[in-house]
Amino acid sequence: MQPQFNFWDNMAKRYPRFNDASMSKDVNHILSWCQERNVSFEGTTILDIGAGTGTIAIPLAQKGAHVTAMDISEGMLAALNEDAKEQGLSAKVSTHQSDWDSFPLSQQYDIVIASMTPAISDLQKIEKMLGATKGIGIYVGWGKYRINKLVEALVKAHTKEEEDCASGGCIKAAQFIDILDERNITYESSFFATSWCDTYSFEEAREYAYDQLKRKEITPNEEIVESILISNLEGDKVQITTEAEKGIILWRVA
Ligand SMILES: C[S@@+](CC[C@H](N)C(=O)[O-])C[C@H]1O[C@@H](n2cnc3c(N)ncnc32)[C@H](O)[C@@H]1O
Repeated sequence: MQPQFNFWDNMAKRYPRFNDASMSKDVNHILSWCQERNVSFEGTTILDIGAGTGTIAIPLAQKGAHVTAMDISEGMLAALNEDAKEQGLSAKVSTHQSDWDSFPLSQQYDIVIASMTPAISDLQKIEKMLGATKGIGIYVGWGKYRINKLVEALVKAHTKEEEDCASGGCIKAAQFIDILDERNITYESSFFATSWCDTYSFEEAREYAYDQLKRKEITPNEEIVESILISNLEGDKVQITTEAEKGIILWRVA
């Protein structure tokens, strides 16, 4: 089994839900930007690739879309289904657990969206995404920077060269744009700065640190992790701040 599988199921315990304030701020920005470009979600069929806990799928269903939310992680989709049910949106959201590679694409959707997901990590996966829409495609990926000082300190303390470690991430927005350019697909794009702060108990922070290192194929050293977390303690909590740029790309099938 790939390490990714456990990573995302572990992350599901901590990953923001659709109503998290920091996450909602970004999602509202992304969906409003699309709506300003005359994208209407109401009544459309939407495929959300790597939907996670439904941070985008649930707001889209609230806007009247019929969303197919696919994700590799059972834990993420369990959270999504729980929130959809609580919001009375179960009829508008259907979930499918699989790797994007093996997702059975039996129909095209009005809109296909992929946000911050390693489901879209190479050309073949992008091609499948491009073929999944009969109308509009929306990709959200990292922009020029993503700064998480705690993870940087953990990686630096474990490795000589930071570049040596695997990243396991998604295609950056700029790389996605290059691929659309190569295919003469016209698009609109926008980059925005964002930041969020996660507050964890020491135990949660330890689990987070271990998951982050293992994802980069680094074996965690208990003493190093412990000492870095202690130096980041504020009271009995560890605050983890991330500052990043995200890019939104919107294209239309001619
Ligand atoms: C950072 S979360 C993004 C969730 C949501 N799209 C958002 O923007 O908040 C990445 C999601 O991609 C999923 N994922 C990772 N690799 C995948 C794959 N190969 N196929 C499908 N989903 C995958 C993970 O399980 C996780 O839920």
